[in-house]
Amino acid sequence: MCGIVGYIGRNEATPILIEGLEKLEYRGYDSAGVAVYNNDEITVRKFKGRLKVLEENLNVEPLKGTLGIGHTRWATHGEPNDVNAHPHTNVKGDIAVVHNGIIENYLKLKDWLIKEGKVFISETDTEVIAHLIDYYYEGNLVDAVQKAVRRMEGAYAIGVISKKNPDKLVAVRKDSPLVVGVGEGENFIASDIPALLKYTRKVYFLEDGEMVILDEDNIQILNEFGVEVKKEIFEVTWDVESAEKGGYEHFMIKEIHEQPKAIKDTLSPRLGVNNEIELDNIKLSKEDLEKINKVVIVACGTAYHAGLVGRYAIEKFAKIPVETDVASEFRYRDPFVDDKTLFIAVSQSGETADTLAALREAKGKGARVLAVTNVVGSRISREADDVFYTWAGPEIAVASTKAYTTQLVAMYLIALNMGIKKGTISKEKYNEILEELKTYQQKVEKLVETKEQIQELANRQFNNQNVFYIGRGIDDHVGKEGSLKLKEISYIHSEAIAAGELKHGTIALIEQGTLVIALATQEHLFDKMLSNIKEVKARGAYVIAVAKEGNEEIEEAADAVIYIPNTLDELTPILSVIPLQLLAYYIAVTRGCDVDKPKNLAKSVTVE
Ligand code: F6R
Repeated sequence: MCGIVGYIGRNEATPILIEGLEKLEYRGYDSAGVAVYNNDEITVRKFKGRLKVLEENLNVEPLKGTLGIGHTRWATHGEPNDVNAHPHTNVKGDIAVVHNGIIENYLKLKDWLIKEGKVFISETDTEVIAHLIDYYYEGNLVDAVQKAVRRMEGAYAIGVISKKNPDKLVAVRKDSPLVVGVGEGENFIASDIPALLKYTRKVYFLEDGEMVILDEDNIQILNEFGVEVKKEIFEVTWDVESAEKGGYEHFMIKEIHEQPKAIKDTLSPRLGVNNEIELDNIKLSKEDLEKINKVVIVACGTAYHAGLVGRYAIEKFAKIPVETDVASEFRYRDPFVDDKTLFIAVSQSGETADTLAALREAKGKGARVLAVTNVVGSRISREADDVFYTWAGPEIAVASTKAYTTQLVAMYLIALNMGIKKGTISKEKYNEILEELKTYQQKVEKLVETKEQIQELANRQFNNQNVFYIGRGIDDHVGKEGSLKLKEISYIHSEAIAAGELKHGTIALIEQGTLVIALATQEHLFDKMLSNIKEVKARGAYVIAVAKEGNEEIEEAADAVIYIPNTLDELTPILSVIPLQLLAYYIAVTRGCDVDKPKNLAKSVTVE
C-alpha cells in the first residue's frame, strides 16, 4: 500500500503534489518523492523518511514545472531508503514512474531486462516498470505503457511521465486504487480522493485494466483492449477526513474491510501455479530443517495470538515441537534455545521493544531468527536472519485486525512449506489446504458482509460488565484475540479461557445475563463445545456461538449463532476472528469509545 499522485496543468505541480501526498500519508510513510518535468528535463527528488523530509528539501531547492508525479511509500520490496523510494526512472532518466501495488513477476522481468542491457539501481519491483516502458518506447508513451502492462502480473496503480511526451500524464490500474480528478485547465490522478479535494470534487473512478491519458484540458480513458470508454463524472460530497477513511467512520472498520485484499496480497505472490510456496529469500531447505529440533515463537498481544495458531500449524504440518511465549516473559525464564532452534518473532510494527529484546536473546544463544512483520526495514526485520513480510499495508487503528489475519496466512505458509519439504504432510493434504486458502479472499469478503447481524447483537450486548470467550484447540487461540479486541477498544473486562478449563474456576463468575462467546468451529470438538455451552447456559449466560455453516444443531444450545463459511478445520482462525473483530468494533462504537485511539494504548510499544 502506497500513495500516488499526478498533476498536469498550468500551475506549479510541486506544491499540488505535496499537498496531495500529505493526504495520502496514511497509505505509507517510510519515504516520499516527486518527479517534475521542466525545460526538457525530468528531475526526481526522493528521500527516506516522512514527507516532511522531502518538503524541507523542496523548500530549500524548489522544483519548477507544471507536470509531475509523486509518491509516498510503504515498502514491500526493498528496505526504505533514498534509492528504493519512488519515483523510479529508466537509465536515461527520461521516463519516471510511481507505483502502488506489487508486481508479482518482477524477478523474471528483471532478469530478462538485465539481459536486454537495462541497469537496475534499486531493489524494488517498481523499477522494472520504468525499464519495461523504456524497452517498448518507440515515440509513443501510451503505446509503450500499454505494452508494458501486458507483461506485468500482480497489482498496480501507476503514474507515468516522459520527457519526450511532456504534454501527457499516463496512468493505469489493476487491483490497486486510482481516481482521476477533473479540473479546469488542469487534471489529476491520485490513489484516493482526499488528495484531490482541495482542487476538485469531480472524479472518475477507474476499473481494473483501465488506462487514463491526461493533458491540461482532456481526459481520455481506455479499457484493457485500448478501446475508449465514456464514464460518468462522480461528484464527491464527503469531507476530507471521512474521505481519508474511504467513507468509513473509523480506520479500524476500514481495515477490517481491507482484509480480503490484504490476505490476497500476502498469499498470492508466494504461490506458484502448482502451489509451490515461494518464501521470498528465506533459506529453509530440507537440510536446514533437518538441523532444527525446536521452533520458538515469541511476540506480544495480537501478534502472540497469531503465534499460537502458528504453533498449531507447524506442529501439525511440519511435526516440529513448538513453544510459544509472550516476549516480555521469554528472557526471564532462561529459555532452552540453541543453534538447533528456529526462533520466530512476530510483530506488525517490527519495533516492539520486548519482541526485539527476545530476538536478541535468542540470537545470542545461537538460534536462527525468522521475523514475520509488516514493516519493511523495521528494527526486527533488520536484526533477523530472514524475514517474511506480511503485505497488509499500513495499519493505522491501534487495534490490530488486518495485520493479524495476514500473520495467520504467513504462519500457515511457513508451516506448510516446512511440512512439504520434510515430507510430514502429504501432497494431497498440502494442495487441499492451499486450494482452500485461495478461496479466503471471497470467504472473508462474505463474512465482513454479515456486519448487520453483528451490529444488532452489539446493540443488545454493549452494556455487559464482563464477557467470556470460550473455545477448544485453535478456537481458544482465536477467543484470546477476540477478547483482547473487545477489552482494548470497549473497556469491558473480558477473558478468554479454554472451554475445558471453565469448570476449574471461571464458571463461578457466570451469572444471569453474562455474555459468553463460544467458538465451536472444530468438528472433533463440537460435541464437547455443545456441553460447555449448556454448562454456562444452565448458569444463566447469554451465549453467542461462532460455528461453521452446516452445524445448525448449535442453534438449540446457543442464544445466537454467527456462521462462518464451511471450510477446513485447520484454517478456521482466519475466518472466525472476523465476526469477533466486528463485534468488538460495534460494541465500542455503541459505547461511544474512541475506537481508533483507545485510552492508554499506543500502536507501537517501543519501551520494555
Ligand atoms: C492489539 C495490538 C497489540 C499488538 C502488540 C504487538 O490489537 O495491536 O496487542 O499486537 O502491541 O505489536 P507488534 O505486532 O507491532 O509487535
